[in-house]
Amino acid sequence: MAKITVSKLKKMKQEGEKIAALTAYDASFSSLFEANGVHVILVGDSLGMVLQGGSDTLAVTNQDIAYHTRCVRAGAANTFVIADMPFMTYSSPMDACRNAADLMRAGANMVKLEGGEWLYQSIEALTQQGIPVCGHLGLTPQSVHVFGGFKIQGRDNEAAQKMIADAKALEAAGAQLLVLECIPSALAKAITEAVSIPTIGIGAGKDCDGQILVMHDLVGISAGYIPKFSKNFLLEAGTMEGAVKKYIDDVQQGQFPSSEHEFN
Ligand code: KIV
Repeated sequence: MAKITVSKLKKMKQEGEKIAALTAYDASFSSLFEANGVHVILVGDSLGMVLQGGSDTLAVTNQDIAYHTRCVRAGAANTFVIADMPFMTYSSPMDACRNAADLMRAGANMVKLEGGEWLYQSIEALTQQGIPVCGHLGLTPQSVHVFGGFKIQGRDNEAAQKMIADAKALEAAGAQLLVLECIPSALAKAITEAVSIPTIGIGAGKDCDGQILVMHDLVGISAGYIPKFSKNFLLEAGTMEGAVKKYIDDVQQGQFPSSEHEFN
């Protein structure tokens, strides 16, 4: 597979070709994902829940993400790898740069930060120093205690307008990709149209420029609560490889997510 770059992802948005992304945390899965054509792998801090068994993502450290980024990169030389910046590792531009540098050295192509306009200076500093940034708006799991639970965001008009303004601010600061999590599909569509950078949705409807799932959800092995936006592709496909292929195909054909996976 040809190397996926940030320019390729932007071109995909411009040409209406959907981006298929998955989380991964090790070389075996990253190699399987690359072999089957996944465009983007996120080393998500979701590993605090699906690998470490926590009830949220807050205990994950920068060393954890760096370790798993190294593992993922070892299995996938050409896939675009995003490393998540954990809780409180980017609370100042200086912290953001120092911690992001470790993730880039571990093999990431980009780092992801959760939050809106307040991240402007950090994103500007990261970008100026050669570190590409992915924003993350909506249900940002590191703020679960501020939200009072894992709740859909942006449902009222004021919150929706604020999220559109945040998305524009992140792009103006230099962000080159944007994850939208658990927001009404109409809002995700409005944000996708308001920015020129690609949006990657999870529980954000079919009109985003791409989709992402936590890999454990793709194969139906997430413990406990199964989110409405997820789909077990293994059930239908029968093999892990088949599940990955079907996911990419369904995302690219606009068949996933369907209305049963969306929020209003
Ligand atoms: O940590 C993660 O896996 C994420 C995705 C759910 C987008 O942030």
